[in-house]
Amino acid sequence: MKTLVLYFSAEGTTAAAAKQLAAIKQADLFEIRPAETYSAADLRYTNPLARCNREFFGKKDVPAVGRIENFSSYDTVMLGFPIWYGGAPNVVSTFCKAYDWTGKTVYIFATSGGSAIGKTAKRLSTFLHGAVIKDARVIHQATEMDDWM
Ligand SMILES: Cc1cc2nc3c(=O)[nH]c(=O)nc-3n(C[C@H](O)[C@H](O)[C@H](O)COP(=O)(O)O)c2cc1C
Repeated sequence: MKTLVLYFSAEGTTAAAAKQLAAIKQADLFEIRPAETYSAADLRYTNPLARCNREFFGKKDVPAVGRIENFSSYDTVMLGFPIWYGGAPNVVSTFCKAYDWTGKTVYIFATSGGSAIGKTAKRLSTFLHGAVIKDARVIHQATEMDDWM
């Protein structure tokens, strides 16, 4: 049984939970890092022209740097990210669709400013082809995932 905690975090909240989770589950950790790091201005969604809005409303692919070695060796992936516009950020779906998820068990955790998980898992499942998504929840700290596995 081999587990990977895979996460994206623009402002650090999800990163903190992901690191704790990896320690608790004795899992490997991989950060999805956008090829172009988000600046504070990029994340200012109150500005219609901000990068985040252009990517979301333009349904853009957002490339990341690096690749997970031996992705096929993981049975379980715990995938974490901030909720953006009620779902997963484009960089997460762009990253995930490049891998073969066949036979993997996936748990999704998200941090948010108040939004619930909603349809996040169902929408993301298109990019996790072949995976079985066991659970998806908005969390505030890693201990809220103690019941996973
Ligand atoms: C572009 C953008 C869109 C966001 N959209 C939502 C949203 O739809 N619902 C919500 O509750 N929070 C939203 N947030 C807030 C983040 O989900 C929240 O601050 C999250 O914990 C940030 O995680 P991070 O520090 O790992 O990046 C948004 C933040 C950004 C920057």
